[in-house]
Amino acid sequence: METRRMPLRSMDIAQTNREKLRQLFPSVFVETVNQNGELVEAIDFDKLKAELGNFTELFDGRRERYGLDWPGKKDALRIIQEPSAATLKPAREESVRFDQTENLFIEGDNLEVLKLLQKSYYGKIKAIYIDPPYNTGNEFIYPDNYTESLETYLAYAGLIDDQGRKFSTNTPSEGRYHTKWLNMMYPRLYLARNLLTEDGVIFISIDDNELSNLCKLCDEIFGEENRVAVFPWRKRTAKSDVPFGVSQDFEWIVVYAKPEFEAGFFIKRKYYYSDDYDEGWRISDLTVQRTAQERPNSNFTLVNPKTGEEYPANPSRVWTITKDTFRQYYDKGKIVFPGDYDFLNISRPVFRVFESEDREKNLQRFGAEEARRAVSTLLPEEVGRTEDGTKEITDLFGRKVFPFAKPSSLIKYLLKMIPDNDFIVLDFFAGSATTAHAVLELNKEDGGNRRFIMVQLPEPCEESSEAHDAGYKTIAELAKERIRLVIRGIEAKQTAERAEAAEALPGLGAEVYDLGLGFKVLKLDKSNFRIWDGSDPDISEEKLIEQLDLHVDHVDPNATEEDILYELLLKAGFMLTERIEEKVMAGKRVYSVSDGDLLICLEDEVTEDLIQALAAARPKQVICLDRAFSGNDQLKANAVHTFAAKDRARDGIEPIVLKTV
Ligand SMILES: C[S@@+](CC[C@H](N)C(=O)[O-])C[C@H]1O[C@@H](n2cnc3c(N)ncnc32)[C@H](O)[C@@H]1O
Repeated sequence: METRRMPLRSMDIAQTNREKLRQLFPSVFVETVNQNGELVEAIDFDKLKAELGNFTELFDGRRERYGLDWPGKKDALRIIQEPSAATLKPAREESVRFDQTENLFIEGDNLEVLKLLQKSYYGKIKAIYIDPPYNTGNEFIYPDNYTESLETYLAYAGLIDDQGRKFSTNTPSEGRYHTKWLNMMYPRLYLARNLLTEDGVIFISIDDNELSNLCKLCDEIFGEENRVAVFPWRKRTAKSDVPFGVSQDFEWIVVYAKPEFEAGFFIKRKYYYSDDYDEGWRISDLTVQRTAQERPNSNFTLVNPKTGEEYPANPSRVWTITKDTFRQYYDKGKIVFPGDYDFLNISRPVFRVFESEDREKNLQRFGAEEARRAVSTLLPEEVGRTEDGTKEITDLFGRKVFPFAKPSSLIKYLLKMIPDNDFIVLDFFAGSATTAHAVLELNKEDGGNRRFIMVQLPEPCEESSEAHDAGYKTIAELAKERIRLVIRGIEAKQTAERAEAAEALPGLGAEVYDLGLGFKVLKLDKSNFRIWDGSDPDISEEKLIEQLDLHVDHVDPNATEEDILYELLLKAGFMLTERIEEKVMAGKRVYSVSDGDLLICLEDEVTEDLIQALAAARPKQVICLDRAFSGNDQLKANAVHTFAAKDRARDGIEPIVLKTV
């Protein structure tokens, strides 16, 4: 047992894929000796073939195959597997209710950010909505530079590239190369899929330019069988004076899902409440589309036992019950006759369904207490058009600071298709943060607990733009301001409602804001740690000494404790909204994450007392700075021993893991 080095890179995608394969076919993983005579693990591809049975193999040299291909596709796969060493640094002052909120706004290039989120959010996101560049030939496409992606970003965020040229949106058009667009989308969609839950869904807005490529790309990434639908969205009423005389008034919302996804709108049922039952009930039809010939036993005259009034069956539409079962149902209160209740306006007997029966049935059918209705690909008028998105922006900012924002009503409608209201929604092409707007408002409307993660590049607002004129330097700044404005708007409404309620009910004055109304800002940046570059096995002695020197103290001296804390959360696989408590243990500051599962101590010195105190708290993991043990191997050995001996009381067997950075 020894201390482990905390991994400071994002999740290893290829390794994760191998683990998935291992779960399916453990027998294909074998031990062997490599060319250097070392014992290693390998995959026996012949065995894998045998496992897969008699399936036609693609033979070398066969160039024709069905599918989408473009120059750079292979590189894109390699890029996905290239781990990120970056971090996300918290920006408290730009956030709202930083310590309570579970919403995130991440400023950065979404490729790096998606990589960083892999460990903490793998399989945790139920809904993704994106509205990526459509490849119209006019919009700016982020200059992906795969070999130095973080450096490119940092240069970009400083808005000057390494040759001192300005990155700018109003450079001459990049052209509409499909290859460029596909190379941009492929790795991002691949990484996005990893984040989806097993019942997760992704909605992608697109126009005619790349619709066909997007579908093919998604067929490959999500599986053709998981294509849910392509919704047409009417963005405007018809325009005149258009090429070919055809006005393209629709865009598309391409929807793919993981296999367990099921869409549906909850049906709100209206129940009656009466003194004779202590639960609600509704009425339903007591007749069925069957003839007297088909159902002779149901063709009888119903008699009201209380009044003797008679109701003969309709021979072309008989009762749902039979003469023999009537009494049974009646005794259980399942049959209601005209006159039973003053408030019921019926002229023939009806069936009664209790609330608990509905709940039971819905649980069986949908796994939820409420009933669902299927979703149509025809979107209703309520989803709104581009003009509604523009109006929303103008209403909030007082001017049109962002063109072509989607209406939040559209995103709300898409989110309502998911028959659940407690999940994470990700939008990694956030733009003006319409998705965040929709999430906040929808929660307010239905009491839901949806949380958002927005990712947006600090793309500069063009100098000639209204946004620039209004003082917003980047789209990210504008998006953050929009979220603040929406929060303020909802709060103002709440305060007004509360005041009204307080007037009616004195004593109810206190302002209690919903904790869902906030967001935490984080920014993509380089790691707070100098990461050991072990990639070059033939490193020169000189270089090696240089690296060793750097690692004597490898923590960036400018890093704040909070910066380091968030990097450790991310790289240890904890969510960025995990509850963090600051504690003092044996006179040292310790951060307790996720109710004590993870304890982080960033003090420069660790003592025996602290180790005892940490062990007594029984966390799953402890992270300390390596330098805190510097020169005291005995102390480190003691710590490892103490932690290993202290089995966790909660599940008895797992020893506490000590990691150092
Ligand atoms: C079409 S807009 C999204 C508009 C959004 N749906 C709205 O309603 O405001 C696409 C956005 O993606 C952003 N973007 C493009 N490339 C990006 C990247 N690599 N990382 C993060 N954001 C990016 C652009 O800055 C742009 O604001």
